[in-house]
Amino acid sequence: MSNDDTELEARLEAQDSFEPPESFVEQANVSDPGVYEAFEENWPECWNDAADMLDWQSDYEQTFDGSNPPFFEWFTGGELNASANCLDRHLDERGDEVAIEWIGEPTEEANRTYTYEDLHREVNEAAAALREMGVGEDDVVTMYMPMIPELAVAMLACARIGAPHSVVFAGFSADALATRMNAADSEYLVTADGYYRRGDPLDHLSKANEGLDAVEHDTETVVVERLPEADSFGHDLREDQRLWVDAVHAQKGAEVDPVARDAEDMLFLMYTSGTTGQPKGVKHTTGGYLSWAAWTSHAVLDIKPEDTYFCSADIGWITGHSYIVYGPLALGTTTMMYEGTPDYPDRDRLWEIIEEYEATQLYTAPTAIRAFMKWGSQYPDSHDLSSLRLLGTVGEPINPRAWKWYYTHIGDEACPIVDTWWQTETGGQMITTLPGVGEMKPGSAGPPLPGVDAEIVDTRGESVEAGRAGYLTVNKPWPGMLRTLYRNDDRFVDEYWREYSDTDSDDWRDWVYFPEDGAKIDEDGYITVLGRVDDVINVSGHRLGTMEIESAIVGVEGVAEAAVVGGDHDVKGEAVYAYVITEDGYDENEELREAIVAGVESAIGPIARPEAVIFTPELPKTRSGKIMRRLLEDIANGDDLGNTSTLRNPEVVSAIQEQVGE
Ligand code: WTA
Repeated sequence: MSNDDTELEARLEAQDSFEPPESFVEQANVSDPGVYEAFEENWPECWNDAADMLDWQSDYEQTFDGSNPPFFEWFTGGELNASANCLDRHLDERGDEVAIEWIGEPTEEANRTYTYEDLHREVNEAAAALREMGVGEDDVVTMYMPMIPELAVAMLACARIGAPHSVVFAGFSADALATRMNAADSEYLVTADGYYRRGDPLDHLSKANEGLDAVEHDTETVVVERLPEADSFGHDLREDQRLWVDAVHAQKGAEVDPVARDAEDMLFLMYTSGTTGQPKGVKHTTGGYLSWAAWTSHAVLDIKPEDTYFCSADIGWITGHSYIVYGPLALGTTTMMYEGTPDYPDRDRLWEIIEEYEATQLYTAPTAIRAFMKWGSQYPDSHDLSSLRLLGTVGEPINPRAWKWYYTHIGDEACPIVDTWWQTETGGQMITTLPGVGEMKPGSAGPPLPGVDAEIVDTRGESVEAGRAGYLTVNKPWPGMLRTLYRNDDRFVDEYWREYSDTDSDDWRDWVYFPEDGAKIDEDGYITVLGRVDDVINVSGHRLGTMEIESAIVGVEGVAEAAVVGGDHDVKGEAVYAYVITEDGYDENEELREAIVAGVESAIGPIARPEAVIFTPELPKTRSGKIMRRLLEDIANGDDLGNTSTLRNPEVVSAIQEQVGE
């Protein structure tokens, strides 16, 4: 570290709050502190502000319908189409402006620019192609694609014809694809032959095909050829598979009228990890979700049509849905899509992109910031980042040191940072400062957004005092919320509502949403989200179910039992620690360790790869036979173990500690 950096760190270390820069406030989309009170007084009609950012084919009659809790409805009676809102309505004024700026890999290859006209044209053609394949309204279309423009095109094409999409992250395994297609009865898949990672072509279609082999019903597939001939893997298409060029380009010039969807009709499904091994199909609607994505993009990310906005997430996660595709395009801005990784060809790749495209916002994950910090400030320092106006983070807690590094080295102390707490289920941002209004406190996301009613409670549901840890709850519904878990209303109620609601009541005020996060609040009402309180761990901002990983490990030959916990990791936030008991007759050796790692990668994907596999003769269990995960976490972190007297088998603790210490 240079002397300047050391001085800077010393100066900022003591500072625990930051005012939004005056230059930002002056131009902010929202800068009136009165917005909080106004929304509170005018709830739920305050949310008409969000709905009115959209074009409706027929007006909604009622803002909020709470008559059947917890199955809440918003903007009932209204009809709209998400693709028309993201495309058609911008054509007159912004048809020639850039909608998607795509930066592909390898770097020498031409990038692609889609104006709103271009995107509109291709979405129409893709919509016509999907229709011709037989996709009807409400048929779920799965997408298993890398970060290429055709992914956004396919999503918007689905939205145009009223077919919900279900995007599966390309880094997920064949098994994960099959599970999701089976769970949604999805008969259609859009995928790609491959893509590039750090300059090398990667075979994606073979993985997709392996997944399709495990799908229980007939399917039809469209394959985008991402790789040029020289790099492609020479796949033979199956009988029920067609190339994107043949299917979509055959529809040249086709126009498809955007289908009028009811506000409550499903826009998409997104599978996410939960407590059990079976992923949850989070259902989002057309009216409420899109309003939420648009309003938060406006109020929190301060997006204006003339911006070049950069979110470095993958569209395979909710962040990419709401804040690469739907929110930014609904506002008619330029949204960037980056296919590659931040460290290829060099560790300044993002800074190079921001400089070249004069990006105005950067929205990324704390994990990425911690990696940038580790690589050193010489990378951002060698680029002109002065086009940036706002910075954001999402997905996991950000530690104050990383926050301050981001603030100074990327934002040059001139950009507010929004630390945004939200979830796949919430559809969009829920807790964060408004960048043109609130003071920022590194390490704390901020107050709930106007109109959002969050509270920190104890196990009985009583408010906890400032400074103490408790459970985060949300007391009032909001338009962007999930409507249910697809085909599983019971699990929806059990997972999110049972804990703190009076489930016998038919008054919506008695229903409380539980996001399964721990949190604390300070005297000013700023909330710090501490992390998951269920069996979900957050690795590099990605949600992984410990049960899913455990069942993958137990599926490996030679493994009798496994427990997975999250241990602290200085870059990833949390990392996967797997405690494993071998079956009789199997050795605790390197070979088995490798088989376990490979088993997890093939069942879930490389993101779930265990940081450490620790063999143990037994797992620490309570007298009632429950695995003491907390204890395993403490062991992984090398923390003081406290009281182990409730354990049935306390002697096992030192045995495990020895293994970890090895
Ligand atoms: C965590 C990602 C602290 C939290 C949009 C939540 C955060 C889970 C923050 C959702 C934040 C997200 N501070 N923790 N700013 N943002 N989380 O569904 O535990 O992939 O429940 O949605 O990430 O992850 P998901």
